[in-house]
Amino acid sequence: MSRRAARTRTLAGPAPRHPLGAYPAYRADPLTLFYEQAVAYGGSVRLRLVNQHVHLLVDPDHINQVLVTGAAKYRKGISYQSLNYLLGPGLLTSGGELWKRQRALIKPAFARRHVDAEIPLMVECGQRMLERLDAHAADGAPFDLVPEVMGFAADVVCRAVMGADIDGILPQIEDDVRNGVAWVMRHMAAPLQVPPTVPTPANRRFLGVLARLHRVVDDVIKGNRNSNAGQADSLLGRLLTARDDAGHAMDDEQLRHEVLTFLLAGHETTGGALAWSVYELCRNPAVLSRVRAEIDAVLGGTEIENAVPSLELTGRAIDEAMRLHPPAWAFSRTAIEADSFDTFDLEPGAIVVISPFVNHRFPDFWESPLTFDPDRFTKENAKARPPFRYFPFGWGAHLCVGQHMALVEVRIGLAMLLSRYDIELVNGLRVRENPEISNTPDPVFVRLTRRQRTAPTTSTLAEAAR
Ligand code: HEM
Repeated sequence: MSRRAARTRTLAGPAPRHPLGAYPAYRADPLTLFYEQAVAYGGSVRLRLVNQHVHLLVDPDHINQVLVTGAAKYRKGISYQSLNYLLGPGLLTSGGELWKRQRALIKPAFARRHVDAEIPLMVECGQRMLERLDAHAADGAPFDLVPEVMGFAADVVCRAVMGADIDGILPQIEDDVRNGVAWVMRHMAAPLQVPPTVPTPANRRFLGVLARLHRVVDDVIKGNRNSNAGQADSLLGRLLTARDDAGHAMDDEQLRHEVLTFLLAGHETTGGALAWSVYELCRNPAVLSRVRAEIDAVLGGTEIENAVPSLELTGRAIDEAMRLHPPAWAFSRTAIEADSFDTFDLEPGAIVVISPFVNHRFPDFWESPLTFDPDRFTKENAKARPPFRYFPFGWGAHLCVGQHMALVEVRIGLAMLLSRYDIELVNGLRVRENPEISNTPDPVFVRLTRRQRTAPTTSTLAEAAR
């Protein structure tokens, strides 16, 4: 084959007759579009969205090439461009040298020992969630659990990032982040993307939200710089004292990008993981009773602050909920150089999408993929699994820095919820995936009843493990 012919090999995909290609199907339900086309084409597939081709990579070798062996040929992709307007060039959206330097500065701030030191703060946020939920339990009427667990996740991430003492500004931040995210979603999905400086009413509102967020975060940064007390107790405090190899610290503008990044990246993702875990456990009562037996047994003998390592089955149930409903349902890269794969080539500028949702359910990779079964995540099973079947936190150099924080936080939230309430799922058949920046369930109507806790017996743990 000539060199020229080899360069033009395209990845196979459907040839939709609609002038906008697969765009209408993408707008209506991207998860179903991606999943069905990947299954129809037996793995990686090319889709046309309006005038752009999206390469959805499913085959492990293809993903490995983009995220690991050939990662230098790619930068963060289109989905991150809209986010950049909200966050600025923080760890999630930046690339190149800036990303490398920031990653080295930030990674140590998420070390296990720091996250574990935040457990009491997570428990306090859990207590506040239970106080709100007690009112629902007393009233007995069905309500949507999703905003409540999102509130818990927002409470944790804001306080972990900016320090515990932010009561006065928390509601405003939550509101502004929510409105900012809504703008980003519309911008991402628009067939023609105009920058926020074009003075449409929506853009003007977005710039207002952004200005307010910047003011609040800048004030918190200034406050932290000026007071030495308790600095190291928050992520921001740790970032203020972080130095790179040349001894340089982050300036206030970069700190603002990173704080906004953490508030966004650590909020709906973690809240979604908790909501999906509750939902799947309610739909699978046999697993729920084992998980609850574990929680009762562990909390019967240990303070929740020390319980996380023992909540083993609970952790596996969360892993399995994130398999079926990965909060980060897809992420993207753009080729900055030409690249060649076994059956196709990519030109510079080619768009690559990698979807944990598709791979986590792909029939060639999983037995009974739609069955909820936490035993897929026993140590032996997880170890035996080939790569790129399960990657809710990404893979390679950009692996999520907040992974441990999220997993600890969801375990605590779930243990607190299940030990306090019996949860009846009211709309079990109608919960739908809501794939925006994160994939959250929409809505999860439940009815709560305060449990009469029986004292756990010594055999309960053994029963749970069975
Ligand atoms: C269940 C919760 C979470 C999920 C499912 C999740 C998922 C992900 C995924 C898939 C990526 C890789 C994206 C890519 O390669 O393009 C990522 C990156 C990232 N996540 Fe998370 N995340 C979660 C929680 C958090 C938390 C709690 C934080 C911080 C407070 C956080 C901060 C970040 C940052 C800063 C990055 C960018 C890393 C880099 O590019 O170097 N995430 N996350």
